[in-house]
Order: sequence, then structure tokens, then C-alpha cells
Amino acid sequence: MTIRNILTEPNPFLRQKSVKVENVDDNIRSLMDDMLDTMYAAPGIGLAAIQIGVPKRVIVIDLSRDGEKKNPQFFVNPEIIINSDTKASYEEGCLSVPGQFAEISRPDKCKIKFLNYNGDEKILETEGLFATCIQHEMDHLEGILFIDYLSKLKKSMILKKLSKNKKSLERIIV
Ligand code: NI
Repeated sequence: MTIRNILTEPNPFLRQKSVKVENVDDNIRSLMDDMLDTMYAAPGIGLAAIQIGVPKRVIVIDLSRDGEKKNPQFFVNPEIIINSDTKASYEEGCLSVPGQFAEISRPDKCKIKFLNYNGDEKILETEGLFATCIQHEMDHLEGILFIDYLSKLKKSMILKKLSKNKKSLERIIV
């Protein structure tokens, strides 16, 4: 298992649509293992494959709290079957939008269909933080980031900050 580099906005790669996985084989499982390591090291509670530069419809999530037993969950080719009409808001952040947070409203329940680590088809009903997290990650598969839900002004302010941080970071690395 390897910790991979996480791409950050602005990066056109993050804006591309991920493709369906044809077969959950050892290559995909190895990708999921790397994603999990990368997410734990970051640390974060969810990661989509595109965030480490792999445009495949694969997501890992672990919502266990500090001190609790780890509970990694893997989602290949996830699809939303039903979204609730009721909404919930969370202060969202993203490993690809470092240091930035914003309140985002999303359906508070959603039922999803996906393939698990072994390639078995599963159906899961999620709510609360889990529902928000899976929707945030599924947006990544479409090239959507949480900042896309903000006003133009707020979004451009965040993008400006990110570009600035990126530049100064690059200077230090050089
Ligand atoms: Ni994210």
C-alpha cells in the first residue's frame, strides 16, 4: 500500500468525469488500498480515485472517530437510486481544496447501489454525515467540487486563495 499525492484545485484533472470500472480485480483492489492509506494519512473521511489522478469511479470512506476501530468502506461505480426531499447542511471541506470550508446543503438521506471491495453488488441507505459524504465523493466522479455550489464571488475568492497558496508552496519546494 502506498500513500499517493493528492491533486488540489485548480487542476483540470479534477474536473474530468471518471469512467466506470469494468471489473473489480486485484488492480482495482490495490488502487482502493492506496486510496485508503492516502486518505488516512491526509487525514480525511472520504476520497475519490480522481483525487489521486486516477479517473475511475472508485470511492473510499471511513467515518469512524478517533480511538474507534477503523471502518473502511469501498464504493465502485456508485449510483444514487433515491435522494430525499429533505436537506441537511454541513460545513464541508475537501482534501483537494485545502484549508477551505463552506456550508453546503444536500439531501439528508440517499439510497445508493454500488460494488464493494469484492465486486459484489450492494444497496445501502445512508443518512446524515454518511449521506453528505457519499454525495460529496460522487460529485468528484463528475468533476464537481463543493465550491461549485457557492456564489460566483465566494468561489472566485477561494480559487484565488488556492492559486496563491499553490504558488508560494511551489516556491518553497524549489
Ligand atoms: Ni472532496
